[in-house]
Formats: sequence, C-alpha cells, structure tokens
Amino acid sequence: MIQYPLVVVLLLLSALASSHIRCGAVAAAAAMDASYVAVVSTVLRGASTVIDVAIDGGGHLLYITSTGGIVYRLLSQSSSGASQTVASGFSYPTSITCDTVNNVTYVADTGYYRIRRIDLSNSNAVTTFAGGTAGYQDGTGTTARFLNLAGIVYHHSSGGVVYVADGNYIRKIIVANASVSILHRRKFVLTFA
Ligand SMILES: *[C@@H]1O[C@H](CO)[C@@H](O)[C@H](O)[C@H]1NC(C)=O
Ligand SMILES: *[C@@H]1O[C@H](CO)[C@@H](O)[C@H](O)[C@H]1NC(C)=O
Repeated sequence: MIQYPLVVVLLLLSALASSHIRCGAVAAAAAMDASYVAVVSTVLRGASTVIDVAIDGGGHLLYITSTGGIVYRLLSQSSSGASQTVASGFSYPTSITCDTVNNVTYVADTGYYRIRRIDLSNSNAVTTFAGGTAGYQDGTGTTARFLNLAGIVYHHSSGGVVYVADGNYIRKIIVANASVSILHRRKFVLTFA
C-alpha cells in the first residue's frame, strides 16, 4: 500500500512527459496496483516513421506516417501490418483524432496550416474543417489561421469540440460551426506578426 501513491505519481509524470498526453492512462493508473505488468507486442512494422494513431468508429487503428501525407487504416495486426489508404493529400500531418460516434476523423494537416475532416461513414470524404493560411487568427472555418499545428484531440462535450496545439497556443474549435478561438496563451509570449 505504501508504494501505491508512488506508482500513480510515476505514471502521471510519464504521461505528462509524453508528447501526446492520453488521459485514459492516468485514469487507468489509479486502478493499477504495483504488480501490474503491461504486455507489449508490435502490430505494425512499417517502412516510415509512424507519427500518430487513433481508433475509428469500427474499432480499427488509423495512423499517419512521416512520409506521403496519407491516413492509413490497419487491417490486420501482424508484423507485415496490411493497411489501406483512407485519405491522402495531406502535407506533413502531425496528429490524428477521431469522433467515434459520428465516425469522423480530424487531422492536423500541419504543412497546409489547416485541420482536415474525414467522414469515414461517407466514402472517406475529405473537407477542410478550419484554416488553410499561415498565422494566428481566430474565426470561423477557413477564415481562421494556424501556424504550428501539432497535437489534436476531439471531445464530445457541447456537441463536439476539437482542441489543437498550435505553437504557443491551444486553440479550441466548436464542431457545430467550426468556430476557432484561443483557449490558452503562454504569458511570456508578447506579440505575433
Ligand atoms: C465507421 O466507418 C468504418 C469504415 O467505413 C466502419 O467500418 C464502421 O462500422 C463505422 N462505424 C460507425 C460507428 O459508423
Ligand atoms: C459557435 O457556436 C457556439 C456554441 O453554440 C457559440 O457560442 C458561438 O458564438 C458560435 N460562433 C459563431 C462564430 O457562430
């Protein structure tokens, strides 16, 4: 029992240290005891560096890699990892998330300064959800601007909200109207061009 808080703290610290914070890991840590052992196996060994993963509405793994600007779905979990192309035409995508209820995936399309939306239940139709021009500008849809898109996460609150890490900012996008606002700004950042 004495070791229990230490395990929780260590797991919390390790979750905070990772570039993509997964809240589930922290919640799960609370239920673990000191004897918990995670079993790790490899489900894909690809030619390119895998950048991010998400789960779609069918429970399949989606992933993006360092080359090609493509979103893939993993069809079979093996060392050969058969995959299919879900959508292409992205420029240096850095992060992916999924609204598993509506079966919609959001991609931080970093090289094009925009968030793309993939409708998985509608022939994987791809549309620009927000952004498309470099800068820091709040607004609706394509009038909003992004500069250094990195992590992206979807939450179902208030009818659906997407949060993105964008340089020194955290941006909030309301799904219903693609309204982009700044949720957080680091205090020591004074001006932007
Ligand atoms: C989401 O789309 C995938 C691919 O078309 C499909 O396999 C899955 O059943 C869909 N899930 C939902 C909840 O619509
Ligand atoms: C978008 O929807 C939210 C939530 O309903 C609302 O508060 C906000 O004013 C809307 N923004 C625009 C630009 O319509």
